[in-house]
Amino acid sequence: SQVKLNPLIKMHKDACDFYHHVLLTTRAGERGMKYARERELSDEILEHFQIGYAPKQDNLLLTYLHDKGYEDDELAKSGLFVESQDGCLFDRFRDRLMFPLGNESGQIIGFSGRRISQDKTEAKYMNSPETEIFTKSKVLFHFAEAKKAARSEGHLILYEGYMDVISAYKAGVHSGIASMGTSLTDQQVYMLRRITPNIIINYDGDDPGVHAEERAAHMFEKVGGFNLGIVVLPEKLDPDEYVKKYGAEKYRDEVKGALSPTDFFLKRLAQKYNLSNDRERITYLSEAVKEIAHLSNPVEQDIYLEKVAKQEGVSKDSLKVNLMRERRRQN
Ligand code: UTP
Ligand code: MN
Ligand code: MN
Ligand code: MN
Ligand code: MN
Repeated sequence: SQVKLNPLIKMHKDACDFYHHVLLTTRAGERGMKYARERELSDEILEHFQIGYAPKQDNLLLTYLHDKGYEDDELAKSGLFVESQDGCLFDRFRDRLMFPLGNESGQIIGFSGRRISQDKTEAKYMNSPETEIFTKSKVLFHFAEAKKAARSEGHLILYEGYMDVISAYKAGVHSGIASMGTSLTDQQVYMLRRITPNIIINYDGDDPGVHAEERAAHMFEKVGGFNLGIVVLPEKLDPDEYVKKYGAEKYRDEVKGALSPTDFFLKRLAQKYNLSNDRERITYLSEAVKEIAHLSNPVEQDIYLEKVAKQEGVSKDSLKVNLMRERRRQN
């Protein structure tokens, strides 16, 4: 039986083709192309990600879709336009590099547009509003393609930004996805769970990014059944900046060196204390033991007790005694 295609999905495909065409072949798109090249986006990458440009002038998308026969009421609920008081439609996205956002089967359902002007009063990224077909909390950029790559790469990698997914892709990591911004949702966690238990989180190396990694790790742990790795990039770099600065091979090494959640938490914990001060060191050790006590696997507990004991020059046995006390308290 023939499944009827939602007209909004067809319209988004047309809009995507339009933006892409404007970027690649028109005068109006030259500004966009200049920016794309500054961001080191090759033709091949522009093609794979179907990146486009929403022109600065006039209502070019509106005119284009009108000419294709779309009616005003359909156009009005697409999210591609803003409506004035008197009901006139205007292109929502202007002078932006356009990243199409797909659903689970890769059909385009919305866009995010990167500001290319220097005008900092405008949002850096402008996203489609919620529509019949676009639910922000369920969208993962590059999900349909990453799903396939996950079979060969053995994991999915979660990024903060579209440009991070794209630079990772250029570096040979094809299983990258991004939620819109740093706030991961439960729905997205369940979407990932259906694909693979092996998730690597690689948000930006700045403070908000590392905080968000901690939050995301807790969300995955709450749902359970995941095997998590966490990458923390140096110098507050985001993955896009890291690949540009250090290259593809170094980047892939960072991914291979992803920390276990326990290593990640212990490392963050250690940074909160001045470990050359005994009082602070004792507090650190008791917090570390609490963290290790969460682990259900005794072999894992043993590995981390040993690590912390070695690092801090205390005996593993004394930490173990504290761990047993802690576990009795937790039960
Ligand atoms: P970042 O501020 O880290 O941006 O936000 P970025 O991805 O590094 O972008 P570039 O490299 O400057 O182009 C991470 C993500 O947060 C969302 C976007 O999804 C972005 O990729 N975001 C950010 C927005 O939705 N709106 C904004 O105004 C800013
Ligand atoms: Mn960021
Ligand atoms: Mn970033
Ligand atoms: Mn960036
Ligand atoms: Mn914990």
